[in-house]
Amino acid sequence: MKIIIFGSNGLIGKELVNQLSHKYEVIGVSRSSGDIQSDYTDENSIIRMYEQIGSFDALISVAGGDTQFEPFDQLKPSHFRYGAERKLMGQVNLVLIGVEYINKGGSFTLSSGYLNYYPNPYSMATSPFNAFIDNFAQTMATQMTDGVRINTVSPSPVVQELQHGTVTPKFVAESYIQSAVGNETGKVYKAWNMD
Ligand SMILES: NC(=O)c1ccc[n+]([C@@H]2O[C@H](COP(=O)([O-])OP(=O)(O)OC[C@H]3O[C@@H](n4cnc5c(N)ncnc54)[C@H](OP(=O)(O)O)[C@@H]3O)[C@@H](O)[C@H]2O)c1
Repeated sequence: MKIIIFGSNGLIGKELVNQLSHKYEVIGVSRSSGDIQSDYTDENSIIRMYEQIGSFDALISVAGGDTQFEPFDQLKPSHFRYGAERKLMGQVNLVLIGVEYINKGGSFTLSSGYLNYYPNPYSMATSPFNAFIDNFAQTMATQMTDGVRINTVSPSPVVQELQHGTVTPKFVAESYIQSAVGNETGKVYKAWNMD
């Protein structure tokens, strides 16, 4: 089974590479490191990545949580555009272009985040993108053919030591792996520790 970890140099990406690479063929992709370099703000760069890899069985997107956090009175359209080009269209394009390359029965797993359920005064240009990504995957799941699945993982803040409201990379990786190799589609895996 060939699994692409898109964002393999990140906090969650590194954990996924560690956990998956002894069992599956893992291809790590990052903007500036990994087995292959790709920038998901550039459609041609995404196409080049898929052309290099060829067919694959699972893509896990754990790239750039770099949306913008500003108080409402300082928000500019550019703060929204920044997240829209990355968290939103970057991940959408990984799927729209990737459907041409994914094998039958394959899976896409995208990253959203808990902030659409727990917004704060700084998350105006972040929370809505999480909601979009969850709903995009749920809607795409109804349109996929050949048994291709798509889910999202919605982590709460990821830190090295588990505390109330946070999760560890190891904890959140479980949801990504279940999504990638399990049977569910159209599901939001809430990797939270809030209750
Ligand atoms: N960490 C959290 O607390 C948390 C909480 C909720 C949701 N999430 C979501 O989970 C996902 C992963 O989070 P993380 O904390 O593991 O991220 P991270 O540590 O910031 O990882 C970033 C990874 O994404 C790559 N990347 C950044 N911009 C890119 C671009 N334009 N094109 C291609 N690759 C790019 C980086 O590559 P380079 O190193 O090569 O630049 C790196 O491999 C994000 O979507 C984030 O919003 C995270």
